[in-house]
Amino acid sequence: MQHAIQNNIHFTDYHPAPADFFAEVMEGLQQSPKAIAPKFFYDAQGSRLFDAICELAEYYPTRTEMQILSDHAEEIAGIIGEKSFVLEPGSGSSTKVRLLLNDLKPHTYMPMDISRQHLLDAAQTLAHEYPWLDIHAACADFTTPLMLPVQPQTLNKVAFFPGSSIGNFEPAAAQAFLTHLGETVGVGGGLLIGVDLKKDPELLHAAYNDSEGVTAEFNLNLLARINRELNADFDLDSFVHRAFYNRTLGRIEMHLVSRRQQQVAVAEETFQFHRGETIHTECSYKYSIREFQSLAAAAGFRAVKVWTDGEQLFSVHYLIYQG
Ligand code: AVI
Repeated sequence: MQHAIQNNIHFTDYHPAPADFFAEVMEGLQQSPKAIAPKFFYDAQGSRLFDAICELAEYYPTRTEMQILSDHAEEIAGIIGEKSFVLEPGSGSSTKVRLLLNDLKPHTYMPMDISRQHLLDAAQTLAHEYPWLDIHAACADFTTPLMLPVQPQTLNKVAFFPGSSIGNFEPAAAQAFLTHLGETVGVGGGLLIGVDLKKDPELLHAAYNDSEGVTAEFNLNLLARINRELNADFDLDSFVHRAFYNRTLGRIEMHLVSRRQQQVAVAEETFQFHRGETIHTECSYKYSIREFQSLAAAAGFRAVKVWTDGEQLFSVHYLIYQG
């Protein structure tokens, strides 16, 4: 199953089952309130739009996390120690790990992504830039349990999960996913994770309602994708992006709001929308440092160190799995 594709790259294909976009959309539109999971944002166009979001002045998480990682790379490397085995679920282009590699000098880096070609391209670019690094790319659905390729026991395993993607899980699912990461790295293994902090709701509002309308386009692309792939007839001008901070639940909610009473066909089915009715497309939970540490503790992790920026916008935690 595992094979070498170049001197320092190995590739393992776990043949992840693709999500059933059609079945999940149909089920989500039959629910009340209507909802579609955020994982479906990321077709080629959605991924391009998300990259554009990360460059926006209002969207502070990406640049803030990158600044924290580069400012503290040496200290992070000192805490993690030598001979590490770093696995990154949902590694995409492996951009953020580059901020750590020169200081951390891990023995092995294991990028994991469901998108096979993107993963292989990213692994090849990385191998070229870091010829000393042993890369074990894995095409996998990182939410399902997997066996790591056999490694010398001496390697210190660490999961790297940046980007505050943990915020897109419901808290119970976030806890279960953290436990899954803990079981993957094993007792004594580490977790380096980026978590967006609770803050002034106005800053949050601006980050998810940018002035250029890129986030709105990203949200609406979900309907365009359903039209493209599932033979649907959503009229994009009849829906509007809405994102707001739900203070009670400590999360940003993104919705697509129907501007009028209408009906929409998806394949053979017809769905009714009344004016103002929404499709809930994403939650992005924000945690205080203590809230995240207690979520991680419930998942079996002990907090070791946390780094933040001067404005306390974002946090990067290092934790150890205790089982
Ligand atoms: C991927 N995830 C952490 C982003 C977030 O901020 O929750 C997705 C996003 N949605 C709108 N803007 C960015």
